[in-house]
Order: sequence, then C-alpha cells, then structure tokens
Amino acid sequence: MGKFLVEKCGPLSGEVEISGSKNAVLPIMAAALLAEGRCEINDVPALRDVDVMCRLLRSMGSVVTEDYENATISIETEKIVAEEVPYELVKRMRASFFVMGPLLAKTGRAKIAQPGGCAIGERPIDLHLKGLRILGAQITEGHGYVEAVAEKLHGGKVYLDFPSVGATENIMMAATLAEGVTVIENAAEEPEIVDLANFLNKMGARIKGAGTDTIKIEGVEAMHGTRHTVIPDRIETGTFMVAAAITRGDILIRNVVPDHVKPVIAKLVECGVVIEDTDEGMRVRGNVNPLISTDIKTLPYPGFPTDMQSLFMALLATTEGPSVVIETVFENRFMHVGELNRMGANIKIDGKSALIPGQRKLLGAQVISTDLRAGAALVLAGLTAEGVTEVSEIYHIDRGYEKFKEKLNGLGAKVSRIDD
Ligand code: UD1
Repeated sequence: MGKFLVEKCGPLSGEVEISGSKNAVLPIMAAALLAEGRCEINDVPALRDVDVMCRLLRSMGSVVTEDYENATISIETEKIVAEEVPYELVKRMRASFFVMGPLLAKTGRAKIAQPGGCAIGERPIDLHLKGLRILGAQITEGHGYVEAVAEKLHGGKVYLDFPSVGATENIMMAATLAEGVTVIENAAEEPEIVDLANFLNKMGARIKGAGTDTIKIEGVEAMHGTRHTVIPDRIETGTFMVAAAITRGDILIRNVVPDHVKPVIAKLVECGVVIEDTDEGMRVRGNVNPLISTDIKTLPYPGFPTDMQSLFMALLATTEGPSVVIETVFENRFMHVGELNRMGANIKIDGKSALIPGQRKLLGAQVISTDLRAGAALVLAGLTAEGVTEVSEIYHIDRGYEKFKEKLNGLGAKVSRIDD
C-alpha cells in the first residue's frame, strides 16, 4: 500500500507551485457530462481521485483524454451509455456521487451505489436527495443503491439545512437543464462552488449568486462544450503554508489565490508567522518570531476549513502554549490525534474539542494515514520529529496531493517512498 519515510529536516526554504484544486476539478469533470460537445479542462492535477473520475466517465460512454504533461484533460460524451455507478467506484471515491445530478438532468435516470460512512464520519446524502426531489425526481433507496428518475426536472426552491458543498454542487448541476428557475438557499459558498458555476456558465448555463448563500439557476435547453482552467488548490496551499511554519522555514508559494485562504492566513499570523503577498506568490516565514498557540473552530466557508484542521493540529503541537481545536463540520474528524500522540503530541479529546498542550518535541514513530488530510498532517509532523517517521497507507495522500514527496523534497525535506 506504500509508505513515506520522513526524516527530521531543517527549516524548509525555496519555492513551490500549487496544483489545480482537487475539489474543484472533480465536480467540473462530472458537469462535463451535461455538455453537447467537447470540454477541455486545464490545470488538472494528476491524482488518484481524478483517475477514478476518468474511469467513471468512460464507463458512462465519455471519451476522456488525459494529458498530465500539460495538466489537461478533455471530455466528450456523444451518448451516455450507462446511468449506473457501481459500489466498486463509489467506495473508492465518494465524489463519484457528483454524477447523480448531471446524469439525472441529461438522461432522466441515475442509479448510484449509496456511499457509506468514511473515516471522518457518517456523511449522509439526505440533502442531495432532498434537493433532487424538489426538482421533481422520484427517488428510491434500497439494497445499497439510490435511484433517481424524472422525465423532466423542473425548477424549485431548495433550502439546505446545512450548507453542504456536495449537495449544493449536485443540485446546481441538475438544475441547469431543468425547466424554470431553481433557487438554492443556505447554499455552500466555497470557491469550488464558484469555479463549478463559472464552468457551467461557460457551457451555457444561467447561474447567478454562486459564492453567496443564495444561488439562482435558470434552466436552459442544452449546453455546449467549453474550455476552463481550474482554480489553485486552497488546501494544498494551506498545507505548504503550514509546512513553512512547522519547520520554521521560509517558502514562496506560487499559483495562490490569497482570498481563498483568508482564515488560514489569519490563524498563522496569530501564531506569529509572517505572510506577505508578492508579485511572484505568497511568502510564508515561520522563522521571524517564536511561534505561539491559537484556537481554531472549523466552519463552512468563509470560516476555517475542516480540511486544514489536522494540519494545524500538527503545527500547534509544536508551538508555545496550549491551543483548543473545535471540529464542527464532521463528527469524527480526530482520527489523526491518536497518531500524533504516538509521536508525543499528548492531545486530549473531549467531544468535538481537542486540547493541544503545545511545546512538544515530537518523536518519529510508525503512524497510519487515516484519511487524506490526516496523512499530510503526519508527514508535516514527521519533518520536525526526532528520527524517522514512517507514515503508512499513503494511498490516501495520493488521492489529493500531486507530487507531495517531490514538492517537499524540492524545499529541503527528506521524504522517501516505499511502494510494496
Ligand atoms: C466537501 C469536500 C471535502 C470537505 C467538505 C467540507 C469535495 C470532493 N470534498 O465534501 O474535502 O472536507 O466539503 O468542506 O469537495 N451532510 C449531511 N447531508 C448531506 C450532505 C452533507 O448531513 O446530504 C453533512 C456531512 O455529513 C458533514 C457536513 O454536512 O457533516 C459537510 O459535508 P459536505 O459539505 O457535504 O462535504 P462534502 O461535499 O462531502
């Protein structure tokens, strides 16, 4: 399954280029199913999840060309030949569920294996289904599958009880070809939603308000192919910002939208990190001040991202003074705490809160990457830990970080990989 061996290193320094966003490109690829004609997507990261989405689209009849040398893929679907997604694909990647909205809108039917729970919680899909029902879909759930059928979707008003990213995206995609106007209230406001809406609008959709809590979609008859460049990955950006901080280094991060990482900037500055926006990118210095503790509460965008929580916890284990981290988005996103504690972090969990005493000298240990971001957090912890840290089950990291080892080593880290 593969392991990273991470040796303690000095302060990281140099430049790193951020790849296109995983969480933006996956729904965009699914949305390409809606087009009559070819879509070209640029700045696509070479990731395991992207590969799974390519396989999924091919199984539905799309012709997908992958050119990772140029970070470009193209998708063209003359005819959708299958409207079913098997568990084999959904269990590999929950984002397979993104094809539900486009399939239903385009063919009137979608049957998708029900995504189960995962390492970070139960992760229900009730809000996706609530929205699709309001748009006129008949939904049947059973035997591990969800089936949605609708001769023609129609517009409707959907209030999301929680601003779910995936539900907002699925409903927005389905509504593009529905008859009439759909309004999504309490919609998620993440930059990936805006990127998806921009892509759909270039295809001929009529979407307004993406990036606010109310999105209005006026249905159109048909959509055409287009070309789109994916936004930079804000979580990869945050990961390298934390890498600079945890090693007390000095890194220039290229291909960044500073607005997308505002809460990460704010919290690092509270810790004493110096961050500068320059013409070439974002310079992050963890070597100017002694770093101190801060408290964090994860929230939907523009609040502090849950995907950065484990990475900050690794950092806060090393800063001066105690910190409290509260996770409000997922119910079970502290799986990395046991692993960080094996490295000496001494973190205590009480319900949704974690108390991090800080000021620890971490020690290399054998640890398990329990999910994508947890895996990255353990690698960053390993950069400062005495000795060698062995991070196993790194297929999670391959899902979402392009060339993670190479990018870190380019900054002076000593990470090697053993594949079995
Ligand atoms: C997306 C991101 C993921 C990120 C998360 C929150 C992708 C591919 N993944 O996941 O990296 O951590 O947003 O920023 O974009 N919920 C329900 N019912 C639903 C849907 C969600 O109760 O129908 C709950 C979830 O259980 C969770 C919360 O809403 O507690 C947030 O989930 P959601 O925003 O949907 O996350 P994802 O879209 O799955």
